[in-house]
Amino acid sequence: MREAQYWRNFYYECSINVFNIDFRKTKYLIEYGPGVGTITKALLEKLNANAKLICFEPNAKFCAFLNKKIRDSRLIVINDYAENHDFCLKKLNIKKVDYVCSGIPYSLIDRGKKESIIKKTKNSLKKGGKFIIYQQYNWHLRKYLDSYFENISQLFEVRNIPPTLIYVCEKL
Ligand SMILES: C[S@@+](CC[C@H](N)C(=O)[O-])C[C@H]1O[C@@H](n2cnc3c(N)ncnc32)[C@H](O)[C@@H]1O
Repeated sequence: MREAQYWRNFYYECSINVFNIDFRKTKYLIEYGPGVGTITKALLEKLNANAKLICFEPNAKFCAFLNKKIRDSRLIVINDYAENHDFCLKKLNIKKVDYVCSGIPYSLIDRGKKESIIKKTKNSLKKGGKFIIYQQYNWHLRKYLDSYFENISQLFEVRNIPPTLIYVCEKL
């Protein structure tokens, strides 16, 4: 079991390296769908001391688990959907963010919500900010991203099992 966790962390570490986040300049980083926090922990390890990681997770049990498991004053866990993140940022008095990392299953989300998440995310990013989406091998999201972002890089992390498709969408 421990070995399985080691490899899981190893593969996620590989993914985070290819996210190409400039952690030195990052003040606000958002994560959609942290689940039990594997990516969250890896992001916190790299985030600087004054930055904040704001996670949006609709599953209350995962939120409680994250708050219990990760004691870090830079982490804010919000029990809500990615599509409502803009209201929550307003409440926190955060105008724009540097990066949004997303691990949510877009293939299970209807078209209207998908478009709403992408549109609102673009609006929340500062100029030069990036929306980073990692998901299992599934190309369907690209056409939606193309409608909102002009600069999209597509990476394929084969060291993950199953392989992960990563989109990095920059707000110009
Ligand atoms: C496959 S898990 C990914 C967990 C974690 N990011 C990882 O890679 O280990 C997907 C997570 O997205 C969450 N989720 C699903 N729909 C969401 C939405 N609309 N907004 C935010 N999170 C969502 C689920 O509750 C779940 O925790």
